[in-house]
Amino acid sequence: MLLQTRGCAPTRLLSPFARLFRPYLLQVWGRRSCNVAAIMPEAAGFQGVSDFSELQEFSVSDSESFWAAAARHRLSWTRPFHAVQDCDLRRGKIKWFDGGKLNVSVNCLDRHVHVCPERVALIWEKDEPGSEVKVTYRQLLETTCRLGNLLRRRGVRRGDVVTIYMPPCPMAVASMLACARIGAAHNVVFAGFSAEALADRIRDAQSSTVVTANQGVRGGKVTELKKTVDAAVRSCPSVQQVLVAMRTDNPVAMTAKDVAVEEEMLSEDVACEPVAMESEDVLFLLYTSGSTGPPKGLVHTQAGYLLYAALTHRYVFGYHDGDVFGCVADIGWITGHSYAVYGPLANGGTTVLFESTPLYPDPGRYWETVQRLKINQFYGAPTAIRLLLKYGDHWVRKYDRSTLKTLGSVGEPINTEAWEWYHRVVGDGRCAVVDTWWQTETGGICISPRPSDPDAEIVPGMAMRPFFGIEPVIMDPEGKVLTSKETSGALCIAQPWPGMARSIHRDHQRFVETYCQPYPGYFHTGDGARRSKEGYYKITGRLDDVINVSGHRIGTAEIEDVVNQCGAVAESAIVGYSHDIKGEGVYAFVVLKKGVEVDEADLSRQLKDMVSKKIAKYACPDFIQLVQVLPKTRSGKIMRRVLRKVAEQEFNGLGDLSTLDDPAAVQKIIQGRRDSGAK
Ligand code: PRX
Repeated sequence: MLLQTRGCAPTRLLSPFARLFRPYLLQVWGRRSCNVAAIMPEAAGFQGVSDFSELQEFSVSDSESFWAAAARHRLSWTRPFHAVQDCDLRRGKIKWFDGGKLNVSVNCLDRHVHVCPERVALIWEKDEPGSEVKVTYRQLLETTCRLGNLLRRRGVRRGDVVTIYMPPCPMAVASMLACARIGAAHNVVFAGFSAEALADRIRDAQSSTVVTANQGVRGGKVTELKKTVDAAVRSCPSVQQVLVAMRTDNPVAMTAKDVAVEEEMLSEDVACEPVAMESEDVLFLLYTSGSTGPPKGLVHTQAGYLLYAALTHRYVFGYHDGDVFGCVADIGWITGHSYAVYGPLANGGTTVLFESTPLYPDPGRYWETVQRLKINQFYGAPTAIRLLLKYGDHWVRKYDRSTLKTLGSVGEPINTEAWEWYHRVVGDGRCAVVDTWWQTETGGICISPRPSDPDAEIVPGMAMRPFFGIEPVIMDPEGKVLTSKETSGALCIAQPWPGMARSIHRDHQRFVETYCQPYPGYFHTGDGARRSKEGYYKITGRLDDVINVSGHRIGTAEIEDVVNQCGAVAESAIVGYSHDIKGEGVYAFVVLKKGVEVDEADLSRQLKDMVSKKIAKYACPDFIQLVQVLPKTRSGKIMRRVLRKVAEQEFNGLGDLSTLDDPAAVQKIIQGRRDSGAK
C-alpha cells in the first residue's frame, strides 16, 4: 500500500514486490505528473510535484526518494545499492548508496562510447591561441585504459593515492580517470604550488606515484613542472616513481625513478578491466586550507560525488546534450574537478580544458575562445571578470558570443558592478548569470539561482536558491537556528547530501571538529550568509581566518607560519583586505626581532619570495607594515578584528578595545597605516 499523498513512495515503504516493479511504477506515476519531468526526468515519479519549488521541497522532505531516483537514473551500477543513506552528521558519519558498486571511469567514458564513440569529450584549449585539440570519448577511453594498465603494471593498487601535478590537459584528465578505473585515489595538486607545498601534500597523502609533465605553458611562459617535482620528491621517501608526460618538446633530465609516459603507454593494451568500487570507496583527495593547521586532504567518495557533480552540472547551468561547456578553472581546484571533468563527462558532455589566462595574448582571450569553440555555458571567477571589465567592452564585443546561454560565477562574492557587466556586456543581456556558492567540502554547487523556473528572477550578486536536497539554515552565535525569513548569521546545511566530503585524510577527528561539532547536527560551512525577505541567500564571506585571494582559499595561519620563519621576524599577523581585482588581498603586520634593522623594501622582497617558494605566488603579501607590537588581549590572543579594520583603513568604530593588553599600540598601528598611504 502506498502511504504517501505526495511524492514518490520511499523505497523503505515499498513491499519487495513493489520494489521489484519500482521502475515501472515510476513510469506510471510519471505519466500523471508534472511538467518539471520534461526538464528533469528523475522527477517523473514524484507525485504532485508540479514546479521547481515543489521539487526542491520534495528533495528535502523526502530526500531518500529524490536521491534514489536520481542515482538510478543518472549512474550505471555494477551492483544496485540497498540503502540510500546512512548518515549521522553529529558523529561525522556519512554514507550514501551502501551496497552499490560502480566504476566512475565507466560512468564517465564507456557508457558514452557505446552510444556515440566519436562525440568530443574534451576540447583542450592550449595556451597557444587557435591550437585547440579535440579528444573524442573513444580516444579518451583508450588513453585512460593504457594509463590504467601502465599504473597497474607499475604496481599501483586499489586504495593507493596517486598525486597528479599537471596543468589542465587531456593527459591529466586521463590520469584522474585511470586512477578511478583501477581503484586508486587521485590527489591533484594545483601546478602553481611550490615544491614545498607539493611535498607536504605528497607526504600527507603517502603517495608512491606522482604523475607530472615535463613543463607547463601558461600565458606564454614556460614553467618547470618536472624540476619542481624533482625538488619535492627529494623530501618524500614514499615516492617510488614519477610518470612524466611531454607537454612541450623540450627534453628534461630523467632519473631512475622517472617513467616516460607516452613511450611506455604505447605497449599497453587499449582495454583495461575496471574495478567495481563500493559507493563509499575513496575517489580522490583534494587539499585545501583551513583556518588553522596544515592544509587538509578532503576525502570525496565514488557514487555520491559523481551523482552530485552530474546533477548540478546539468541543472545549474541548463546543460543539454550537444552543448559545449567551458569551465575555465584549473583542474587543481574543486571547480576543475567537478565542472571541467566529472560533471560534464558523467553527463556525456563536451568540456573545455582551459590552459591559458584571461589576458593572454590579450584581454579578448576568453571571448575569442567562446567564439572559436562555440561555448554554450561559460563558468569563471569574479576576479577575472573584474579584471577584464577594466579593459573595456570592445575586447568582448569584437567576438561572436551568440552561442552563450548561461554565465556562471564561482569562488568568491561577485560584486554588483562585475555581475552587471557580465550580464549586459558578455551575455548581451540575454544569458542567465548564475552566482554559484559552494566549497571543496560540498563537492558541488549548493546554492545558485538555478535550477528554478527558467523565468524566475535572478538578483545580481546573489547565489539565491538552494539546490535540490540542500537545506540551508542560518544560525546565531549561540547555535540557534534563525527562523525568520530576513536574517543573517552563520551558514549551515541541515541535512547531508551525496556530494559532501566524507572525511579529512588520516584525521577524521579534525573533520568532525571542523564541520560537525560547531553546530551539532548541522554541516558548518565557515561562511556567513544573509537571507532576504523573499528567502534568497547572499553569501557575505568567511567567518573564520581563511581569506580568499582571486577565488583561491588560503589560511592566514599558513602565511604567518612562513613569514615567521624569516630570521628578522619576531611575529606576524596576516589579514585579508578588500582588493579591486583579487577580491581580497594579503596584508601582513610584522614585528621585527629586538635590535634588528632592515631595509623595508628588502624585507618585503624576501618575505614575498619565501611565501611564493613555500606556498604559491597567489599567497604573497601585497602590503607589509612593520609594527612594534601586535594588538593582543591580556590572554595573548591577537585581535584580528582590529587589524582587519586598520588594513581596510576603517579607523573609526574599532569596537571594544578594553580587553587589549596595550590599547595605545593600536594608535601607533593606525598611524603607520596612515603614513603608508597604501590603498
Ligand atoms: O567563502 C566561500 C567562497 O569560497 C569558499 C570555498 O573555497 P574553495 O573550497 O576553494 O572552493 C571554491 C570553489 C567552489 C567558500 O567557503 N565562495 C565560493 N563560491 C562563492 C563564495 N563566496 C561567495 N559567493 C560565491 N558564489
